[in-house]
Order: sequence, then structure tokens, then C-alpha cells
Amino acid sequence: MTSGKTVLITGASSGIGRATAELFAERGWTVAATMRRPEESNLAQKSDRIRLFRLDVTDQASVDRAVADVIAQCGGIDVVVNNAGYGLMGPFEAQTDAQIRRQFETNLFGVLNVTRAVLPHMRERRAGRIVNVGSAAGRMALPLYSMYAATKWALEGFSEGLWLELRQFNIKVKIIEPGMIKTDFFERSREVASKPGLTAYDEFVANVAPNLTAWEEAGAEPVVVARSIWRAATGRWWRLRYQPNGILAVWPRGWVPGQLYVRIVRRLFNAW
Ligand SMILES: NC(=O)c1ccc[n+]([C@@H]2O[C@H](COP(=O)([O-])OP(=O)(O)OC[C@H]3O[C@@H](n4cnc5c(N)ncnc54)[C@H](OP(=O)(O)O)[C@@H]3O)[C@@H](O)[C@H]2O)c1
Repeated sequence: MTSGKTVLITGASSGIGRATAELFAERGWTVAATMRRPEESNLAQKSDRIRLFRLDVTDQASVDRAVADVIAQCGGIDVVVNNAGYGLMGPFEAQTDAQIRRQFETNLFGVLNVTRAVLPHMRERRAGRIVNVGSAAGRMALPLYSMYAATKWALEGFSEGLWLELRQFNIKVKIIEPGMIKTDFFERSREVASKPGLTAYDEFVANVAPNLTAWEEAGAEPVVVARSIWRAATGRWWRLRYQPNGILAVWPRGWVPGQLYVRIVRRLFNAW
């Protein structure tokens, strides 16, 4: 059974994006699985409902081309899942300006580029959904992930504002805030910053990094996030935030006083 609906997913080559593509295809949707290098992917072999498109979220021309191709070939776009992203890790002082700008170019401006490209189409149809993959780190920052958290906090503000702005056009905006998820994120999608001669953080990094890794290894499977994205894409409600494997992290952060949060992080991560 086909639903007659189309979802466009960014960063569908692996992890959460790939799991989401497979789930939507299983459930009868046409999936426009977008990625930087479609020629290297076997995803289309999983289902004849999955079509691959080339899209780099940091390149507006590539975004515009992919969106136009998807509309022409699939008949429209009902849901966009802004999933592409990676994590810059390390002490802020060790990160170069170029690394920080690249992090924002992908995790924040990439989402803006894709959203900008699909909005005229959705406004015209007076229907559509924009599902942004944020992170629990967009609600509670962790040491060594300050810039990654900054991009995801920015995405929170953008999503909440847009949620209010697009209601009048019957376009729902959602933000998914996953906790730790077992994907390739921590190998292929993590950039570790270090600065020659900067040794002041060595002991801190040596203490914290193994605890972060232990957390990462205890993560949930990406399909858990895919199911949340499905609920966000199909549910009737105007609910904004979803927390797959993240509720226990995100929810208490809203009311735990700062000093207690410091003590928790210090204890959990052996931070200092
Ligand atoms: N894993 C977690 O614990 C976790 C937790 C919370 C939130 N998240 C978020 O979940 C999203 C997906 O991450 P993941 O865990 O599934 O990691 P992943 O398996 O490494 O997937 C990241 C995806 O983003 C793509 N990407 C990176 N830069 C891109 C660009 N400029 N244009 C298009 N695609 C680009 C990658 O494509 P290439 O194949 O071309 O590199 C890859 O498909 C990210 O936004 C991440 O911040 C992950």
C-alpha cells in the first residue's frame, strides 16, 4: 500500500537518516533520500519506494536543485526531515574559527537552506511539515561539546519561532531531541579539535572523554529516533518537541538548579 506521500530526508546515507528512510518506505511513503554522495549508497536497493538525490546542505544551489527535482519526480513534498549534522568536539580554545563556522554551516545554516527551499512549495499547498533533528544537547550542554550544543540550541530557537510563524499556513514544525544514539556519529561524524602547544586541558579531556564514550556506547538504536520522526510527521497534534531516548536528560534540566546540574555533570563525567 502506498500512502501517496513524500518525505525528503537530508543526511540519509547513514545512521538516523537511513533508519528514517527505511521506516517511511516500509510504511508506504515515497522517500527522497538525499545525501552528498548517492553513488556510494546502497539504500535504494532496500525498497523501490526510496529514490536517491544529491544534496549538500551547505550548498544552496545543490539544495535548490534537489528540492526542484524531488517535487518534479515525486509530485510534491509533504514532510522534510532536516537530519544532516555532525559534532565538533574538544575544548573551545582548541577549535579554530574555520572549524566553528563549518559546524554552524552544517548544523544550523544547512537547516535554514533546506527550509528556505521548501517553504514556498508548502505555503502554496497550505500543508507540510518540517521536522528538525536537534539533540538533547540543544537543551543541556556537556563539556567538550560547547559548539555542537550552540548549534543545537540555535536550532531550538529557530524551530520554536518557525512553529509559531507557520501555523497560519497549516505547516507544522517539529524538533526531535535525541539522547545518545548508536550510529556512526561518534566515529565518522565527529571532528575532534586540538591545538598544538595547548596542554592546559589535557587532564580534563583525559578524565571526561572515556565517560562520554561509555555514554555513547550505551545509546539506543537509530530506529528509536526514526519512530519519533514518524510520530512527528504523521501525528495530528501541534506538539513541537519529541525526546527519543532523551526524556530523562532533557526533562530534569528544565527545573534542576544550575549548581545541582554542575554537581551531576562533575559526578557523571569525572569532570574535575
Ligand atoms: N548519534 C547521536 O547520539 C545523536 C544524538 C542527538 C542528535 N543527533 C543528530 O542526529 C543527526 C544525524 O546523526 P547520526 O547520529 O545519524 O550520525 P551519522 O550516521 O554520522 O549521520 C550524519 C549524516 O549527516 C550527513 N551530513 C553531514 N554533513 C552534511 C552536509 N553538508 N550535507 C548533507 N549531509 C551531511 C552525513 O553524510 P555523509 O555520508 O555525506 O557524511 C550523514 O549522512 C545529526 O544532526 C546529529 O546531530 C545524533
